[in-house]
Amino acid sequence: MLTDTGHYTIRPGRASDVDDLARLQAAVQLQAVTGGAPHAGIAAWVEDLLDGHPTVTPDDFLVAEDTATGRPAASLVALRQEWDLAGVRLPVVQVELVGTTPQHRGNRLTERLFAALHQRCDEGGVLVQMIEGIPYFYRRLGYEYALANDGAPSVPATALAAGEGHASVRPAAVTDAEALAKIDLRLTEGTALTCPRDAATWRYEIAGRRPGDLARREVAVLDDGTGVRGYLVHSARLSGAGELVVFAAGCADPGDWPAAARAMLGYAGGRHAAAGEFTGLRLLLDPEHPLARFGPPGVPARQRGWYVRIGDPAGLLGHLLPVLRERWQAAGLRWPEPALTIDLYGRAARLEFTAGELTAVRAVPGVVSPATDPAVHAAVPPGALPQLALGHRTVAQVLDTWPDFLLRDRLTEQFLTAAFPRVPVRVWPRN
Ligand SMILES: CC(C)(COP(=O)(O)OP(=O)(O)OC[C@H]1O[C@@H](n2cnc3c(N)ncnc32)[C@H](O)[C@@H]1OP(=O)(O)O)[C@@H](O)C(=O)NCCC(=O)NCCS
Repeated sequence: MLTDTGHYTIRPGRASDVDDLARLQAAVQLQAVTGGAPHAGIAAWVEDLLDGHPTVTPDDFLVAEDTATGRPAASLVALRQEWDLAGVRLPVVQVELVGTTPQHRGNRLTERLFAALHQRCDEGGVLVQMIEGIPYFYRRLGYEYALANDGAPSVPATALAAGEGHASVRPAAVTDAEALAKIDLRLTEGTALTCPRDAATWRYEIAGRRPGDLARREVAVLDDGTGVRGYLVHSARLSGAGELVVFAAGCADPGDWPAAARAMLGYAGGRHAAAGEFTGLRLLLDPEHPLARFGPPGVPARQRGWYVRIGDPAGLLGHLLPVLRERWQAAGLRWPEPALTIDLYGRAARLEFTAGELTAVRAVPGVVSPATDPAVHAAVPPGALPQLALGHRTVAQVLDTWPDFLLRDRLTEQFLTAAFPRVPVRVWPRN
């Protein structure tokens, strides 16, 4: 892929870009934290992504090259990963390190990079793109807030001071990687959206990154002597507010959680209890996460959102076909017609049924007036589709919020309600 736009060429990254891209990104990201100095943690992260990362290749970067100098003027990276939704693997790209050097701003380079990224994702069957970024900015590029993140209460250091016993928690070693990957597989059996890591990726998280890499985390394992039963992933350093940030926690056996939560929180607090600047634990987890539920009461945090883009809604619904079929079976529902048509105001998805069971999903053109067309069962504004498909909002919530979300009858409402329940987000994205 190579797009020439006059002054700039949009091209894939190369291994030889490493110094330029590390310098570029270090100079533009998190400048409020550094006071305008290059961010060494960002530079180390870029270096890690371009050298030695288990899943990222230089080609995953997209670069806007200044044709006059041959140097990068802007770049982003598309971090490929697979998430798990109710047993179905979902190809996802997380977009990170979006930045333009100040002298090249005003040329819509982000817009051009995203156009190339979306073309690449749509052609490559990457159904979901997500990004955590500048509020509102990515809406302009076709994104919608459709995944909740965060929201669990923060635990103040004083609530941890009781010094719970945490002998069963220790720092992870690379030899724990297989056990950690097995726990991730167990977690895919639950109802949450997850991002399972294989053993190679766990090894990388534990010992593969450069020490200064901003994305480096510390992994601890719950090991009661019988083997590794759970894990806790936290920041390598305290935040500016003195908090240790928890990114993920899991237990192979949900029955372990009451004791595991005490042990993990005690361990995390204990590691920093002596440091004067330690103020508490910031749990970047959903409010229903067992670590939050079985931990001490904390300071409520507002749930935040990740942006999502779905380039091919019918493709996503087709990919989720086994999940939809299972949910309707579990609810005892059989669709009485040959098809259920979901119109997305411009395009549509035709869900086809045999003897009441979903057998195929096809992309079809939308109709001119889905609100009144008798062949349409549901009219869904494009921004609402990812919310429903990823379990961010229920049908009732979307009906409440979007007047142009229209359902033909009660049966359609019942079907879509069963198809799209709320799904907790337990995703620690791969970066
Ligand atoms: C955000 C950034 C990548 C945009 O650079 P760019 O693509 O060259 O953008 P442009 O300067 O051409 O601006 C395009 C539009 O985005 C808007 N915009 C630019 N930066 C913005 C910001 N930080 N917040 C909100 N809007 C922004 C511009 O006002 C312009 O809007 P307009 O269409 O109404 O004129 C660049 O400012 C940057 O590198 N910032 C520092 C790093 C950063 O914050 N990255 C994003 C992390 S999620």
